[in-house]
Amino acid sequence: KEDQYILAIETSCDETAVAIVRNETELVTNIVASQIESHKRFGGVVPEIASRHHIEQMTITLEEALEDAGMTLDDMDAIAVTEGPGLVGALLVGVNAAKSIAFAKQKPLVGVHHIAGHIYANRLEKEFEFPLLSLVVSGGHTELVLMREHGSFEIIGETRDDAAGEAYDKVARTLKLPYPGGPQIDRLAQEGEETIDFPRAWLEDGSYDFSFSGLKSAVINRLHKAKQRDEHLKPEDVAASFQASVVDVLSTKALRAAEEYGVKQMIVAGGVAANKGLRAALQEKFEGSETELLIPPLHLCTDNAAMIAAAGAVAYNQGHRAGWDLNANPGLDL
Ligand code: KG4
Ligand code: ZN
Repeated sequence: KEDQYILAIETSCDETAVAIVRNETELVTNIVASQIESHKRFGGVVPEIASRHHIEQMTITLEEALEDAGMTLDDMDAIAVTEGPGLVGALLVGVNAAKSIAFAKQKPLVGVHHIAGHIYANRLEKEFEFPLLSLVVSGGHTELVLMREHGSFEIIGETRDDAAGEAYDKVARTLKLPYPGGPQIDRLAQEGEETIDFPRAWLEDGSYDFSFSGLKSAVINRLHKAKQRDEHLKPEDVAASFQASVVDVLSTKALRAAEEYGVKQMIVAGGVAANKGLRAALQEKFEGSETELLIPPLHLCTDNAAMIAAAGAVAYNQGHRAGWDLNANPGLDL
């Protein structure tokens, strides 16, 4: 049987990314053009700037990926693209690039959900065993997703307010750390100690939902109080205390869900999966558990197109095809 190649495009937020995957699980090339530097001085992603950068970077990134792989568009079996969720103007650039390529080269087109991509990033490392649970922790999502088979996603718990990454970014802003704040807090937390007892939002008994807005407010209030009293709080300790609360809730609920659903694997996905504290806590919690813990390498945690190719390849082989009316959908459901 001949090898199958899927080329994928991801432009949902602030990275322009193109990747090629062979036979669903083998990474051929993974090019990511980050825009972080352009958004930094605004303290967050500016949608209009993101769209313009995607337009500038799209062709360059595509050419770089093909060159790196030593392949042409004619070698591809299908073109996959993130159709949502994300910033509409940013998504539109990728969707239209994918449609143009597919139309010009007469290739099948596949639309991919960004979070399905984050989950499938793990399959580039290790084969899935069902049922599995995925702890999705990104800038826009925090949820526990149950998968009984390929391409089927059941959300058993999700955040009721802020996403974990969003909480990291907001707390980082109040600590006057540069964007994106998650990695900054992570770095500071390694040097600090949990000296402040921040709340943990366990919610109702048995709930797999999350809530981080109360924690975010608690951090902001504590910083205000310290300022009024002229009390010096070490930013390292604030970061360590905040991180301890987030990591405690995420890892505890993940393990409880894994046990209740009796899953074979727990897959961690999304930008916050890069967090050192979370990785360590999960490793400790799942030690001796029946459930195998999979955490992707750092370069597959944050946004990339390899994950979209991995999810897109499965969708393609299941027979999913997008029409020429494929559109960016900022609020797409999993
Ligand atoms: O998955 P992702 O790259 O983009 C979205 O789909 O949202 O996630 C980005 C989020 C940001 O909120 C960023 O601050 C957070 O992931 N993040 C981290 C770390 N690296 C990225 N949060 C905590 N610790 C990290 N090391
Ligand atoms: Zn993402």
